[in-house]
Amino acid sequence: MAGGAHQQVVVVLAMVALMVTAAEGFISKKTWSAIRRADRDGPFVGLVVPNTYEMDPVLSSPDFKPSNNIPILDVQGRRFRFGTIGSQNVVMVMTGLSMLNAGLTTQLLLSLFRVKGIVHWGIAGNANEDLQIGDVTIPESWAHLSLWNWQRHGDGAENELPLESAGDYTREYGFLNFSDYTVGQANPELSANTLNSVWYQPEEIFPISGTPEERQHAFWVPVSKRYYRLAAKLEGMELPACVNETTCLPRAPRVTRVPRGCSANIYTDNASYRQFIRAHFGCTPVEMESAAVALVAHQHGVPFITIRSLSDLAGGGSSLSNEAATFLDIAAKNAVDVMLKFVPLLGRGGEQEQADGLAQDM
Ligand SMILES: *[C@@H]1O[C@H](CO)[C@@H](O)[C@H](O)[C@H]1NC(C)=O
Ligand SMILES: *[C@@H]1O[C@H](CO)[C@@H](O)[C@H](O)[C@H]1NC(C)=O
Ligand SMILES: *[C@@H]1O[C@H](CO)[C@@H](O)[C@H](O)[C@H]1NC(C)=O
Repeated sequence: MAGGAHQQVVVVLAMVALMVTAAEGFISKKTWSAIRRADRDGPFVGLVVPNTYEMDPVLSSPDFKPSNNIPILDVQGRRFRFGTIGSQNVVMVMTGLSMLNAGLTTQLLLSLFRVKGIVHWGIAGNANEDLQIGDVTIPESWAHLSLWNWQRHGDGAENELPLESAGDYTREYGFLNFSDYTVGQANPELSANTLNSVWYQPEEIFPISGTPEERQHAFWVPVSKRYYRLAAKLEGMELPACVNETTCLPRAPRVTRVPRGCSANIYTDNASYRQFIRAHFGCTPVEMESAAVALVAHQHGVPFITIRSLSDLAGGGSSLSNEAATFLDIAAKNAVDVMLKFVPLLGRGGEQEQADGLAQDM
């Protein structure tokens, strides 16, 4: 009898433990209390970085000082690193490759901690032939270019897309027609391509200021106007041109603000596609995360900016393009150096600054 009662108590305790866990979204009580403790140093500048080679130069820089309070906190497979850059308290998190990782990591960052703004950086392909490997670009807006409506064979620009009348899809942002890229286009019959066309689509978004389940759409997502203005101060910054005494870029890299950056779940290594997205969308950096970070920050009304250095020409077309590997480290380091100079420009203050940022951004 005593044994049975004992077992019952154990079962009840186990159930209570389960309920506690479930009620807290499967983040343990211990982790929640660490989150709250870490958050006392907020509001933070949120630093969102794709990969280790773009994060390691930060960790080894004397400009990043790890926090004495909680330097590292692991939550749901992501590692949050706390510290300071200049007078700013920062929380840095690595996303991993591509849009899903970038989006969900940014969401987790904004859900767990008080973040007054997001700075994202990394390397990128280059669609702008006026720039060179090592240059650091800061776009004014971002689009996600891999949400498509693939049009059926036989249909053209004059045909409505499936579900277009329901507002799910649109012909507003243009298309890529595969037959335009067939080798031997002289004969139109032979150049036709059964892949026909893909139409670029905006994202459905659900801003926190809106009504849940009432979708809005976003294609070009602007970065924070204030952050973009501040970034002008970095345009004269000097960056190293040489890997070592003998291997140098043709000129010293520049920091430059540009109108547009483009992201997709695509590693672009094809000159034809690069030229198309340059001509059609005006992309300069071409990469796989920024638009996802932008779309999440935008929906939260949190100021955001991206700093991306150019590491290759996204499919060749220059004498340097085969040397991308040689300059990868310089490119990654340049993006980090510009980020480390940018964050201290953001100034003091927390909620008020965020409110000002919002008033100016919206
Ligand atoms: C794409 O090209 C095909 C011919 O290969 C044509 O029939 C179709 O109308 C074109 N689509 C668009 C959207 O222009
Ligand atoms: C400089 O770097 C290049 C590219 O990594 C390498 O091929 C070369 O041997 C290096 N030269 C010296 C002197 O270290
Ligand atoms: C990509 O673009 C280049 C340059 O236009 C072309 O020569 C090449 O065949 C294309 N396709 C692939 C798979 O690289």
